[in-house]
Parts: sequence; structure tokens; C-alpha cells
Amino acid sequence: MARIELEGISHTYDPPSVPETQREYAVSNLDISWPDGSANALLGPSGCGKTTILNIISGLLQPTVGRVLVDGKDVTPLAPRERKIAQVFQFPVVYDSMNVFDNLAFPLRNQKVPEKAIGKKVRETAEILDLEDLLKARITRLNAADKQKISLGRSIIREDTAAVLLDEPLTVIDPKFKGGLRRKLREVQNRLKKTMVYVTHDQHEALTFADNVTIIKDGHLIQQGTPHELHSQPASPFIGYFIGSPGMNLLDCTLQDSALQFSDFHLPVSQEMKNKLGSAGNGLKFGIRPEVVDIATREQAGAVAFTVSVIEYTGAYRVLTCDRESSRIKARVSESIPVTEGDRIWVSFPEEKLNLFFNEKRIV
Ligand SMILES: Nc1ncnc2c1ncn2[C@@H]1O[C@H](COP(=O)(O)OP(=O)(O)O)[C@@H](O)[C@H]1O
Ligand SMILES: [Mg+2]
Repeated sequence: MARIELEGISHTYDPPSVPETQREYAVSNLDISWPDGSANALLGPSGCGKTTILNIISGLLQPTVGRVLVDGKDVTPLAPRERKIAQVFQFPVVYDSMNVFDNLAFPLRNQKVPEKAIGKKVRETAEILDLEDLLKARITRLNAADKQKISLGRSIIREDTAAVLLDEPLTVIDPKFKGGLRRKLREVQNRLKKTMVYVTHDQHEALTFADNVTIIKDGHLIQQGTPHELHSQPASPFIGYFIGSPGMNLLDCTLQDSALQFSDFHLPVSQEMKNKLGSAGNGLKFGIRPEVVDIATREQAGAVAFTVSVIEYTGAYRVLTCDRESSRIKARVSESIPVTEGDRIWVSFPEEKLNLFFNEKRIV
């Protein structure tokens, strides 16, 4: 187990012959610290630099600039196997010619651990991963979810593993096994308290696995926090939309006198809100989560009329798509509110739940 730190990491895949001003950086100026024993996620869209970061931590890639520290020790010059960092990839890495037991035993045999101790450790690992009944099974008979469990088992079986990195580990897993494997990963982290960094483009996977989520966009760290912090205090409109289901409603507006002016309606705001907005008058972005907008089926003072154009049912709640001239918002409402498509409804936006962004940054 270990604390992992990235210090001023930047990386370009361009060769040194490309002039500095023309180089494209896959990741830039990353400073990230993951405490010993923590459950972490790196979350961002495809191509944002997640795999590059993992490969820099494990040593498969030498960063152009910066250092990687494990428990305060600079490991940047060390080869991957000297770092004791295990990696689980999108595609399970297993030996088809061996049974499950021998696959799990492989990292220990490499280390010349005595056979008796290997047997004990393999059974212990198999128990954690619910693979006990499959120890004698041939790999070719297993599904991808079980193979991925074996990959995970191989990454956690060595006592001296400092950290486990998982790169989109559910990508090739059949949807019906995804949930179970996702919970198993979380359970394994909880039980073993190994430092883990889980990479994904899927916010649901990141938020359910990790206590600490780092959001990456275009190679830059844009926010780090608990799932709750990211959800309730997104640093930018991008994060507001990226986190949550559906994402945050975002509308352009300006502050005029004592009201937020939208293209086709306005919302009066309190003096307190005006003070918070300060001199940021034009070019504001208004954000509100679909689950906190208030819906009424009759006209209400201060509420704005919208038309319900689409209703999506999820079982537990409904998502209403509400339109008004050029403004569109989504509202997440309980099954009990009596609305049908085409209805007129009145929408209020509780001021204490508003997010306001200026120049892509949160100001309220
Ligand atoms: N081996 C490589 N050579 C050149 N460019 C690469 C290489 N690997 C990744 N890239 C580029 O670096 C950026 C980040 O890629 P990657 O780390 O794979 O992102 P992610 O894992 O988030 O999808 C992308 O623009 C990608 O095209
Ligand atoms: Mg990747």
C-alpha cells in the first residue's frame, strides 16, 4: 500500500525534433496526490489523457516533464516492475493455457513464493473474488467478467503491491455482469484498502467506485473532490453537465437590474444574490439540477410557464423535457405529479439551489 503523487507532470508524444511551440501535450501540469489506501477515480471523456496518466504512474511511459512519487520516493527513473504497481486493462490479461488457479498463482511463482503459501494465498484471493468454484476451470470456458476478476486477482495477490490501476476495466463486460463486477471492485478496495486508481469515461462508474474523483479534460485537471462535492459544487458548466443524470440544466443569461434575464423570461433575484454576482453582468451561465426544479400544474407567483414536450419513465422517477420558445430544461419529478406530454406547467427555480458560472467558472 502506498501514497501516490504526481508532481508537475506533462507529457507529449511528439518527438524532440518537433519545436517546443508546436508540440501537442496529451497531459499538462498535473499535480495529484492519492492517499495511502484510498479509492480514487480519474474521470474524463475519451482522448483526455487518462491512459497516458496511468502509464506514467506504472512506468510504461516516461513523462516529458515531472515526477512520480510513491510514499514520497521518486520512482520516475524506475522500470515498471520495480515500482510494484499493478495494472488491470480494458481486456482481461489471462493465460488461456492455464487454469484459474495457475493464473492466480503466476505472480507469486514469479516471486519464488513457496508452493504451500501460494495455495493459501490463491484460495484467499479466490474467496474475495467469488472464484473458489472455478479454480480448476479452464480459462477458455469463462466469460469476460470472470476473466476480468482473474486479472484483478493477479493484481492484488502480491502482498507488496503498492497500488492497483484499473483502465476502463468494464469496457468488454456484458451489460448484465457490469453492475456485479463494479460492486465487486468496490468491495475488494474496501476490504484490502489498497490504493486504487480507477479510470473511466463513465461518471456512474467513477462516482460509485471512488471516494475521490479527479476530472480531466483535454489533459488538464479541472476538478477534484468527493462525488458529493462534484455534484453539488461543479467548478464549471462542463462538470455540471458531465456529472449527474440527467446533467445540470444550463442556460445563458445576463444580470439586469435585479433580475436574471434569459432569452424569453426573467427571474428576480435577491440582493444577496446580486452581491454575489458582483460586476459579472453579461455572459452568465445559469445552472440548476433537474432534481431541484419545482414543478406546479397551476399558475404560481414567480414561476415560469413551460410546455412538457417529452416524458421519460425510469420506474423510480420521470424526466420531463420542458420547452418555452428558445429555452429548454429538464426536470426530474416523482411518479405522482399528474402531467402528460403537451401539458402546460409552471416551473420555479429555488435561489439557494442555483449555480452561476462566468467565463466557464463557478461564481455562485
Ligand atoms: N502512443 C501514442 N502516440 C501518439 N499520441 C497518443 C498516443 N497515445 C495517446 N495519444 C494521444 O494522447 C491523447 C490522450 O490519449 P489517452 O491517454 O489514450 O486518452 P484516454 O485514455 O483518456 O482516452 C489523445 O489525443 C491521443 O490521441
Ligand atoms: Mg484510455
